[in-house]
Amino acid sequence: MTYRVRFVDPARNYAMIKDEIDAAYFEVMSKGDLIDRGQLKSFEQNLARFVGVKYAVGLNSGYDALHISLRAAGVGPGDEVIVPAHTFVATCSAVVNVGATPVLVDVLPDFNIDPEEILKALTPRTKAVIPVHLNGYMADMAAITEIAEQHGLIVIEDACQSLGASMLGKKGGSWGLTGCWSFYPFKILGGYGDGGAITTDDPDVARFATLMRYNGEDRRTGEYHGHGFTCLLDNLQAAFLDVKLRLLPSWIVRRREIAQRYKQGLDDIPDLMLPHYDDPRRDHVYQNYVVRAKQGEAFSTFLRDNGVEVLTQFRKPYYRHEGLKLEDRGFPETERLSAEVCSLPMNVEITDDEIDYVIQTARKFYAK
Ligand SMILES: Cc1ncc(COP(=O)(O)O)c(C=O)c1O
Repeated sequence: MTYRVRFVDPARNYAMIKDEIDAAYFEVMSKGDLIDRGQLKSFEQNLARFVGVKYAVGLNSGYDALHISLRAAGVGPGDEVIVPAHTFVATCSAVVNVGATPVLVDVLPDFNIDPEEILKALTPRTKAVIPVHLNGYMADMAAITEIAEQHGLIVIEDACQSLGASMLGKKGGSWGLTGCWSFYPFKILGGYGDGGAITTDDPDVARFATLMRYNGEDRRTGEYHGHGFTCLLDNLQAAFLDVKLRLLPSWIVRRREIAQRYKQGLDDIPDLMLPHYDDPRRDHVYQNYVVRAKQGEAFSTFLRDNGVEVLTQFRKPYYRHEGLKLEDRGFPETERLSAEVCSLPMNVEITDDEIDYVIQTARKFYAK
């Protein structure tokens, strides 16, 4: 179906920044700088500065960032890693794929891991916790850091959805051993294909990731330091991401404006819970604008039928997918919110008229 308001519009976004993107493309292509060149280094330095850490290491995806982080932390068979029951499956799959056991815990109404549930899930085998900062809003890292310090846990932040978000003035991705980033095209900082990174203050972790992304090889000496992977961020993607990273602060301002417009238009509907939370310590960058509709799927279907493209991630919680062989220990908040989620169009290319159309359509549903 052709939507009147699209969830994202990559072609329109490209048109907005065509000159800078084309210039980056021609520079890379005309020099033939395809693998691990200056553009990658520049992007890594700028990303590290933006997040407020010493190192950033460009990888092929957010999944790779999680996977390499777990290996850098020495997580493996016999270890348990606490992960939220409501997240993108990659958070959990990375744990399974290093041979460790994921221990799922419930989330809070703001979609993020519940620190109290972390405490309840601790066992002598718990080695790490992966808080996920979902939708552009950080998990309560002050509480999680305190728990981790008390219980000797490694913290790996899945910050894939929250570049630019902070708590107590400290950016997500700078709290744990690593911050893990995804530059999948529809992320707040998205490339034109897959991409990811680790941010860290630990020089050993940065070196480990730099070796592992290139099959264990130190590219200066040619020495292999271990069995690694092929998961280096492409130089061309890095060049594009560097352009977009310069624009990100102004794009976050725009996202917040859009969120305010939605709030003004929808705040008085009692059955619709909007993603505006009352915690002055944390700010929201609105990677996604996920509302919780008491009417569940009927609300999303109505929007789609009336030309508004919405996403409903994740209507079926990942632990209920049989192929993943995970245990459903009962996660009441995850179950509740999974039935209610509806992600409204949120992107920097949307016009105010389009936002108003989304608001009117949502209101029409409730006026029925
Ligand atoms: C919360 C979260 N974790 C991990 C990932 C994995 O990132 P990627 O798709 O780049 O592997 C994503 C993105 O899709 C994500 O949203």
